[in-house]
Amino acid sequence: MLTANPQLTPDKKLRHLLTTEGLPKSLIENILDTAAQFVSVGDRDVKKVPLLRGKSVFNLFFENSTRTRTTFEIAAKRLSADVINLNINASSTSKGESLVDTIDNLIAMDADMFVVRHAQSGAAHLIAKHVNAVRPNVAVINAGDGRHAHPTQGLLDMYTIRHYKKSFHNLSVAIVGDILHSRVARSGIHALTTLGCPDVRVIGPKTLIPTECERMGVSVHHDMLRGIEGCDVVMMLRLQNERMEGPLLPSAQEFFKSYGLTAEKLARAKADAIVMHPGPMNRGVEIESTIADGRQAVILPQVTFGIAVRMAVMSMVGAGRGDAA
Ligand code: CP
Repeated sequence: MLTANPQLTPDKKLRHLLTTEGLPKSLIENILDTAAQFVSVGDRDVKKVPLLRGKSVFNLFFENSTRTRTTFEIAAKRLSADVINLNINASSTSKGESLVDTIDNLIAMDADMFVVRHAQSGAAHLIAKHVNAVRPNVAVINAGDGRHAHPTQGLLDMYTIRHYKKSFHNLSVAIVGDILHSRVARSGIHALTTLGCPDVRVIGPKTLIPTECERMGVSVHHDMLRGIEGCDVVMMLRLQNERMEGPLLPSAQEFFKSYGLTAEKLARAKADAIVMHPGPMNRGVEIESTIADGRQAVILPQVTFGIAVRMAVMSMVGAGRGDAA
């Protein structure tokens, strides 16, 4: 049964994971705490726990992915699930089968969980609504829908920030670049404000900052040198050319001059600031290579933490129970 927030059960446990917007603080903290318990599984000889043994997880990636698809697969396997990666290009989607018909057929194969990436905002919500009507025990996790949400990226970013900075109170976080087309920025902003981060700044050209930012409780900066001043966390974003309609920037070179992270700009942040990037990175466009590979970068730890965070989410929605076993 759905509540006002379709990803929660009536007793406020995690039923699906569709967005970080509206997730209670206690639930986000529970996900991060559960992830912390899973990090050490990666250090074991046998990297497995039996929490999803016998469950079938279907990875449905209608859009390209390196990090998200692979770490969801690793996470599901570490939880002992059976993982099926549907090859969308070789599937009957290319013959005109609708998304809902595809889902119905996979439910008929006894799917327990769908991990969905789709170019259309709202695709994961649509699937969650459908499975709630036809097979309420099936869980849906949004692995990125259009420019709307990428909740597990937002959560792994929170895990990374908490790992390095310990607490969200008194933190200044700058999110830089193409905010307009970024589901990562939206998911990060909702999670940061819920967790009590008092100073979230978005930095970018006017053409790449959506008007909704101000009502999301963040400050808007167009001058990067000023915007990054005194920050604890600098989160860089890729220019998402595939989602841009028409030219929004003079050129990638001009963008780099104003908004690319260089040593000179990073020097304005705190000396112990961490540099994050969800990937894929475009070196020389939004970030200089020396910074991407430098001592302040935590870009690869973000990927590693993503496995534990995805294990936490999958274990919590796993049997429709909403809490970790
Ligand atoms: N961060 C992220 O979503 O990367 P992928 O597109 O490679 O999954």
